[in-house]
Amino acid sequence: MNDKVVRRTGRPRLDSGARERILAKIAKLDHAPAEEIEVATDALRDLLRSDPVTEAEPEPAAQIDTSDSDAGATAPDPSAPPSPSVHDSWTRLRQFSLDGTHLEGKLVITANRSDPAHGAFDVLRTRLVQALADKGWTRVAITSPTAGCGKSFTAVNLAITLSRYDSCRTVLLDFDMRRPGLARYFGVERAGSIGDYLRGFVPLEDHLIRPGPNNLHVGDRLAIGLNDRPEAYAAELLQQPETAAVMTHLERTLHPEVVLLDLPPALAQDDVIAARPHFDCVLMVVGGGMTTSDEIQEATRRIGEDKPVLGVVLNKADIEGDYAY
Ligand SMILES: Nc1ncnc2c1ncn2[C@@H]1O[C@H](COP(=O)(O)OP(=O)(O)O)[C@@H](O)[C@H]1O
Ligand SMILES: [Mg+2]
Repeated sequence: MNDKVVRRTGRPRLDSGARERILAKIAKLDHAPAEEIEVATDALRDLLRSDPVTEAEPEPAAQIDTSDSDAGATAPDPSAPPSPSVHDSWTRLRQFSLDGTHLEGKLVITANRSDPAHGAFDVLRTRLVQALADKGWTRVAITSPTAGCGKSFTAVNLAITLSRYDSCRTVLLDFDMRRPGLARYFGVERAGSIGDYLRGFVPLEDHLIRPGPNNLHVGDRLAIGLNDRPEAYAAELLQQPETAAVMTHLERTLHPEVVLLDLPPALAQDDVIAARPHFDCVLMVVGGGMTTSDEIQEATRRIGEDKPVLGVVLNKADIEGDYAY
């Protein structure tokens, strides 16, 4: 195993009692409908089972996705082919190169799939796509109670595994505008300002990028909006009518089945509340050994009952550097 796995063994862990307490707390959240709770706890249990550190034989993703490379895997609903104009809009997006070594170094474990933990993201992808289709939703906020729990890690890995669904169009946007982090995961420099895109200063095809040809089987129906500079007034920007107009334009132009918004922590500042008009539901990333059940409850309360928590991802992120809000 590579050193990343060794490094993971040194992380603080939730013992099984703490995991059960968090699960029980989630199940008791006042305003989370029973249906969503079901998805949340199932997704969480799947992720726990596929932990490569604690399980000698991790739960294989093969139950859901048997192919070694699932490029072109069965799509959620291939019955609605994109119109030529949607196709043209996608082909106008600039392509960028994927570097497998860089991605592996950044723990993008879904890229080369050598770490068995990638199977957890396949499971999460399948559950998410089903839940979105059932509800008629597309826009998913990825947040956590506090910083460093692994929101961006989850967002990138989920986006890559979604890109392997042939007729699923996915958009991934870096909405953590005070601490933009997605560009580093992809190794993209001079990613541009997502603030300028949301203000309407930069057209969609000049800001969003898509993966170029690669041998990692990462699909090219993944549009990524990165950011290379902090926005001091992120909450205000998110509430501007221009931002809503740009998001509507994005959806009309690219017709995504899934839009992933990599958000800031829910308990830091009010950016997540300001972003509420832009998402339908939430994936809550919980940091093993970091997040308390009270923090989960408070984060969920702040987000509001009309934005259901569709899933809870128990991740085991390290806190590195001076990452702080
Ligand atoms: N499962 C994991 N195992 C090891 N390191 C992780 C894991 N998830 C995240 N990290 C690391 O933790 C740090 C914070 O993760 P990140 O996704 O950027 O957090 P967030 O976006 O929630 O602030 C990064 O250095 C990332 O590489
Ligand atoms: Mg982040």
